[in-house]
Amino acid sequence: MLHLASAAAQRLVRFTLVLLAGLVLLAPDAGAQRRRDSGNNSGSIHRGGSMPLGGMNTKQAKASGGYHNDGSLLCGDCHVMHASQQHDYAGNWHPQTYTPTENLLKSQDPVDLCLSCHDNMYGVPDVLGNDVNSLSERSAGFFDLVDVSNPRGHDLGRNLLPAPWEYCGRCHWGATQPKVTCIDCHNPHGNHNPRNLQWASYPEGTPPLGILTRPGATGLDKFERDNTAYGTLDSDVLREPTNMCLDCHHVFTGEWNNDPDGNGIHSLHPSYDSERGDPNSISQGVANGTTSGVHWSGGTGSGFDTARVPVVVRGAADFASATFVDPTTNGVFCLSCHKAHGSASAFGLIWQVQGDLTPRGCDQCHDRVGS
Ligand code: HEC
Ligand code: HEC
Ligand code: HEC
Ligand code: HEC
Ligand code: HEC
Ligand code: HEC
Ligand code: HEC
Repeated sequence: MLHLASAAAQRLVRFTLVLLAGLVLLAPDAGAQRRRDSGNNSGSIHRGGSMPLGGMNTKQAKASGGYHNDGSLLCGDCHVMHASQQHDYAGNWHPQTYTPTENLLKSQDPVDLCLSCHDNMYGVPDVLGNDVNSLSERSAGFFDLVDVSNPRGHDLGRNLLPAPWEYCGRCHWGATQPKVTCIDCHNPHGNHNPRNLQWASYPEGTPPLGILTRPGATGLDKFERDNTAYGTLDSDVLREPTNMCLDCHHVFTGEWNNDPDGNGIHSLHPSYDSERGDPNSISQGVANGTTSGVHWSGGTGSGFDTARVPVVVRGAADFASATFVDPTTNGVFCLSCHKAHGSASAFGLIWQVQGDLTPRGCDQCHDRVGS
């Protein structure tokens, strides 16, 4: 009874906070202006979290950033001052003109700017369609062309107001075709987070996120699935990377969404959420027979006809700990089932589906078929 009451109260508090956030965003100019001036988190979807967020100097806590940070943040990668350039900075002549664009960008839309390098350019991670660099498997997967409706992952679009502007309206208030743009999820100027990932609703408040790279992996190998692992310390010191998915998919996790009556029988598939007090482990279902820790540890039989799915590892802040197979610390999260950008399968699933949802992947944790 107590549990029920508190779950209901939590729901109410959360609803109110999200609604308030919504109201701030209904008056976009005022809300946006305030965020720009003070860097406060009014309008952030993360306000209702169980931890006080956004108060710390997250930049200091973060490991050294990857590309587009500090010394590798080359203004001329993306900006041109007078929409005209006769030669490059090394003095080589190749005249180029651009269309004058807001923020002096080299392309009219940020998505085209990013894709001018991130598609089909050897030596730059290729995030669209086939991989010009021939990695074994890109950790984030891949998108389809801009403005194409892609049933296998996120749809890229043009003319979108990026984070933290009116992105709520992509899905609400009569939205017809929700889409995303690179700078919703990635900070174009680097934020010292792995992949420069950010909260779309409050970029400056983003805590360090636990994408961990195999020591020694360099160059584009850093972005191989096999060299990427995921950890969380369950606090702002380090959050599971899927904490940034909540900014848009804010009704998919949290106990009040996935197990409203708190009886342990889920109504939505659980997905690790340390901010809203709803972590999980594969072994949590062993007692009542919903999951099989032994099957997960064993790594063979039903479900394992596809590679072991990614998990988020509780307590892991380095690559070695984040690859330790242990059902008591391994949790299921969005990236256990989905590629962040998209994949060759429906819904951007990380394992191959042919037609329908097969035991592949699912049975690694559930062992329903029996092996
Ligand atoms: C001039 C070419 C160029 C442009 C334009 C460009 N990038 Fe990059 N990007 C690179 C290169 C080169 C790397 C680094 C590859 C490596 O680490 O070897 C990179 C790496 C990245 C990474 C991985 C960072 C890491 O190390 O974790 C992200 C994320 C990224 N870019 C996003 C973007 C976004 C978003 C845009 C558009 C706002 C963009 N890039 C525009 C060249 C470019
Ligand atoms: C990877 C691409 C990329 C690089 C490199 C880059 N910028 Fe930007 N910059 C952008 C994008 C995209 C925007 C527009 C952001 C938006 O619409 O919210 C922008 C916007 C800006 C703005 C406008 C205010 C803002 O932040 O929205 C300034 C000022 C700026 N950049 C300066 C710089 C300087 C100085 C450098 C070099 C130290 C630099 N940028 C490097 C992509 C880049
Ligand atoms: C800036 C907002 C935003 C963020 C952040 C975001 N998404 Fe989405 N997502 C969308 C929108 C809008 C759609 C619906 C249109 C589409 O498919 O792009 C969507 C659709 C999806 C789909 C369905 C794709 C399909 O083909 O049906 C999946 C799966 C998904 N998101 C997973 C994720 C995961 C995992 C994360 C975190 C890594 C994430 N999203 C972060 C906005 C977002
Ligand atoms: C990727 C799509 C997507 C984005 C982006 C998104 N929402 Fe939602 N939102 C939903 C869905 C789906 C629901 C549940 C069904 C509904 O009520 O429409 C929901 C529900 C809500 C609710 C009802 C209360 C609740 O939590 O159930 C509020 C308020 C809300 N959203 C506000 C926002 C605000 C504010 C933003 C931007 C900061 C935002 N949403 C961004 C998809 C989205
Ligand atoms: C919905 C959020 C979202 C959007 C939109 C998005 N990314 Fe990403 N991106 C991610 C996440 C999350 C990762 C890390 C995924 C992982 O390692 O599992 C990532 C990884 C990357 C990487 C590293 C390569 C890799 O395979 O891990 C690059 C480069 C990158 N993104 C560039 C881009 C560019 C360019 C765009 C726009 C064309 C874009 N992203 C749009 C969420 C997003
Ligand atoms: C256990 C695997 C699993 C996990 C974990 C998971 N998903 Fe999904 N998701 C699926 C499958 C499978 C589908 C396809 C619909 C179906 O068959 O249920 C789907 C569909 C979706 C869709 C499309 C819904 C639509 O209306 O078309 C979105 C968006 C999405 N997932 C986002 C997320 C996000 C964000 C997370 C993390 C908070 C997440 N998923 C966690 C397996 C998962
Ligand atoms: C990485 C591990 C993992 C994967 C992969 C996974 N699940 Fe789960 N699943 C869990 C965990 C953990 C729970 C929570 C178990 C509990 O609390 O009883 C759960 C719960 C469930 C439940 C609800 C059980 C309950 O009563 O709470 C169903 C149904 C389910 N999963 C189906 C699926 C399907 C279908 C897939 C494939 C699309 C899938 N799962 C993939 C780990 C996983």
